[in-house]
Amino acid sequence: MPSTHRTPTRAGVGLRLPHLEEAVATRPAVGWLEVHPENFLANPHATELLLDLARTYPISVHTVGVSVGSATGVDRQHLRRVRAFVERVEPVLLSGHLAWSTHGTEYLNDLLPLPYDDETLALVAAHVLEVQDAFGRPFLIENPSNYLGFAGSTMTEVTFLNELVDRTGCRLLCDVSNVHVSGHNLGSDPRAYLDGLPTGAIGELHLGGFTVEDDEATPGATILIDTHGAHVDGAAWELYAYAVQRFGPRPTLIEWDNDIPSVATLVGEAQHADALVDATLAGEVAHGAR
Ligand SMILES: [Fe+2]
Repeated sequence: MPSTHRTPTRAGVGLRLPHLEEAVATRPAVGWLEVHPENFLANPHATELLLDLARTYPISVHTVGVSVGSATGVDRQHLRRVRAFVERVEPVLLSGHLAWSTHGTEYLNDLLPLPYDDETLALVAAHVLEVQDAFGRPFLIENPSNYLGFAGSTMTEVTFLNELVDRTGCRLLCDVSNVHVSGHNLGSDPRAYLDGLPTGAIGELHLGGFTVEDDEATPGATILIDTHGAHVDGAAWELYAYAVQRFGPRPTLIEWDNDIPSVATLVGEAQHADALVDATLAGEVAHGAR
């Protein structure tokens, strides 16, 4: 049954278990909440609290365990568990990663990247169609953060995503911070990346913090690590404003998974996103200068 909530227009936050009780008690002033179903599947109490929150907020379900990039196929048992969760929560958005995270029966913390070629495209497209068939709705695929390019890739990530949208009718979750991180690490242009995405398919935007580390392979250079453990960086906010100008406003989420701050800090980040959208749409944010 579809949710009665409409697509959110104000920014939301990723809801992590340490904030669950506070969120129920205080109903923080954000537009929506996104959860990882993997945190709730074995936790009926947390699920009950989430269902309470779902009466106030649009909810998005963002799975980190349905691996559309796995060469061994989608874990159907996990897919059934997530589907049952989705049927209870009735989310307005449903998403996952362009990556794979399962290894045998264990979940790895890191989402592992894919080589972009025809073989991978056919495999991922088949898995996305299977997932969409199971859920009976479009799935949003999120772009990863990249640290190294695959030597064997025969197409860009942007071309791969465009092809995936064309073949499956899936939609895209554009993680703006990941675009910035990948651009820095691979020496590519993040704005050109956004320019290449199919605007009509963008269903959601993510923003998260990263950390800066020395690049051991290149003295004097730095590498950005997508830690989701800090405030959104100024460069990512600038790229977000560019994304809003290019795509129009889209449901936007603040992700913070490590060194989790206070709820008030998360609300502040979401409100900053809202203010930036308003300023961008009012023409108050210039994009000519780099
Ligand atoms: Fe993300």
